[in-house]
Amino acid sequence: MAEILVLYYSAGGSVRRMAELIAEGVERTPGAQARLRTVPRVSSGFDREVSPVPEQGPPYGEHRDLEECAGLALGSPTRFGNMAAPMKAFLDGTGPLWMKGTLAGKPACVFTSTASLHGGQESTLISMMLPLLHHGMLIVGLPYTNAELNATRTGGTPYGASHFAGLADDQPVSDAERALCVAQGRRLAEVALKLAR
Ligand SMILES: Cc1cc2nc3c(=O)[nH]c(=O)nc-3n(C[C@H](O)[C@H](O)[C@H](O)COP(=O)(O)O)c2cc1C
Repeated sequence: MAEILVLYYSAGGSVRRMAELIAEGVERTPGAQARLRTVPRVSSGFDREVSPVPEQGPPYGEHRDLEECAGLALGSPTRFGNMAAPMKAFLDGTGPLWMKGTLAGKPACVFTSTASLHGGQESTLISMMLPLLHHGMLIVGLPYTNAELNATRTGGTPYGASHFAGLADDQPVSDAERALCVAQGRRLAEVALKLAR
């Protein structure tokens, strides 16, 4: 089985829901299975919050997960048009893997959620691609052969799946957004399987 790591940070649950849908797309691909992992919160400097291992939900990702995966789906909410600090902190800790070329040649995709429709989905997605490119990963986008990319009135970009959660973070994942998350998970798994052959 090709193990696809779906690694995300989510404070309010929108990105978590997307991660579950991407994992669903992975699992719909014969020969692939999803491994869901999250990352701990970090202190903003204004608070001193520590982040105990959560009692519910996926465990925190470890370097071992990156070593063992055949592909990676990386998700973060948008923070000022960029990825959230907890995801950046996790990635900043992957220097030893970069030195070894652990992720070089593996496929990866990215996904995000925003409160406003034009609040930086694309810039956040690209911000997440940059460290993955440094690692030598092969970025897998979302092609317009997915009809929902043209039909969506909310999230969904060729750079990766996205969700418009609304200012109150209360908008459910739309049908088009859901279909694109599942398609992205499938596509990543299919590419990983092809590369593994
Ligand atoms: C500090 C901070 C910065 C944010 N910056 C943006 C932003 O630039 N654009 C935007 O549309 N939403 C922004 N948001 C809102 C989140 O991206 C949005 O609520 C997202 O859906 C949260 O995902 P989650 O429920 O998985 O945590 C910001 C939220 C916080 C707390």
